[in-house]
This record gives sequence, structure tokens and C-alpha cells, in this order.
Amino acid sequence: MALVSMNAFLPKAREKKFAVGQFNMNNLEFAQAIAEAAAELNSPFIYGVSEGALKYMGLEFTVAIAEAAAKKYGVPIALHLDHGSSFDICMKCIRAGFSSVMFDGSHYPLEENIRLTKEIVKAAHAMGVSVEGELGTIGGVEDDISVDDEDAFLAKPEEAIRFYEETGVDALALAVGTAHGMYKGEPNIRFDIIEKVASQIPVPIVLHGGSGVPDDMIRRAIRCGVGKINVNTENQIACTNTIRELLEKDRKLYDARKYLGPARQAMVEVVKSKILLFGSNNQA
Ligand code: 13P
Repeated sequence: MALVSMNAFLPKAREKKFAVGQFNMNNLEFAQAIAEAAAELNSPFIYGVSEGALKYMGLEFTVAIAEAAAKKYGVPIALHLDHGSSFDICMKCIRAGFSSVMFDGSHYPLEENIRLTKEIVKAAHAMGVSVEGELGTIGGVEDDISVDDEDAFLAKPEEAIRFYEETGVDALALAVGTAHGMYKGEPNIRFDIIEKVASQIPVPIVLHGGSGVPDDMIRRAIRCGVGKINVNTENQIACTNTIRELLEKDRKLYDARKYLGPARQAMVEVVKSKILLFGSNNQA
């Protein structure tokens, strides 16, 4: 199977009230773990690739790895640019083979965010590529970008509805109280915002900062209209903790496969548990 746009599965997710996981790809082991878990549970999924991850892996390797996974496993896979910062980077990724892009214009004034997102939607849709937009500012640390919680602000429902109507995005990320990275306490998720916007627009709401959100909150968010959930930090922690433990236990260990293999397996377990929680198993 070739890589697919998010429209191959998001409308179904919205209709049947499940969410598709965006799991960030940071290297080959992440990519393999995510695909293996999804294939085992017969689930569609999204490879999220941040600009930082793209720099780390290289555009050609990123696309080749995702295409190899789609061919090997046969479940629907979208290769999606996470938090794209410009028209140019979105087009560069599309030209290289990405099937989906996020344009994050949330730091621009609303009018400008709408204008820029609309341009990208027009170009991407002409090539069969799906687009995610963002409104409000999601807190936490991702790549080299850090947003203090005081600077994070929530999306306004009226603006979100207008943003959807004017841009025609396929999925809409809203700042509703989650943050990138792990939480100090429990997040205060504004389910009322999700519900209000979801009742007025046909496309799914995207929940960023999915790591560390309690299971009952995830289930409630999906019931309210979330159809795509992003997870990165929990995989990063599972991977790094496994490697740290193995290297500390055996200081003579030098074969990278002996610690990367178990790290990959730890990520398989994380991704499987998220897929079951999101309800996307058997929806491929
Ligand atoms: P976490 O790292 O908190 O899981 O968030 C991932 C994310 O939202 C990527 O866009």
C-alpha cells in the first residue's frame, strides 16, 4: 500500500468516534516500533515528523522509511509534517512524498493565520495531501521551541469555527489545555471548547500533547470530537529509559542492537496501549 492522506481514515474516525494516533518518528527504531504495533492491532496511524526530526533524519530517509513501512505492513499510514512553520517547508515535504502536512500559524494574528493556512490548503489539496491547522498556543517544549504555560492561550470557539470555514483544513488542532511533554500535575482540559467547536465543524479536532494525559480524559476528549491524538514524549521516555537501564547494568555492552532492540520493543508496547485506548484497533 502507498502512503495515504489523513482523509483516508479521519472522516471514519469522526463518524465512529475513535481517534487515530499520530506517533512521532525520530529515527528508524521509532518508525519500526510504531508500524509493528499498528499492524499487530490492524490500525491506521500517522507518522508525525517535526522539522527538527526532519533535520536529524534527512528528508529522503524519512520518506523512504515511511514508504517501506506502508509497503511492508499494509495498514493505512499517513506521513505528516508536524508543526510546519512555512509554505516552503510544507511544499518541500509534499514534493518529497509526504501525504499530509500541518501548518502551525497559531503565533500569527488570526487573519494572517487564515490567509497562510488557506494558501497551503489550496496547494496541498490539489495534490491530494491533507492539511492540519492550529489555533491557540499549546504550551510545553517540542524540538527547540518552548512555550511557557503563562504564554499558552486557549483557542476561542468562534474563531475556530471561522478558521475552519475559511481555510477548509482537514483536521484542526486547538489549544485546549494540553501541553507538549509530561505534566507536573493533571492537565486541565477544556472539554467544553472541544465540544462546542466539534458540534459546528465536520472535521476532527486534534489533541496535541497526548503523553501523560489520563485515560479517562482521553476517552472523554474522543467522545467530545477529538479524532487525532499526538504522542511523542511517552515513546521518547520508554526508549531512553530502556537504553539507560541496559547501559548502566552492563558497562561493557557495545553492540547497539542489544540496547536499541529492547528500546524499540518498549515503544511497541507504548504504541499498542495508545491504539487500544484511542479505539483505532481493527479500523484499518
Ligand atoms: P507529547 O510529546 O506531549 O506526546 O506531544 C506530542 C505532540 O503533540 C506532537 O505534535
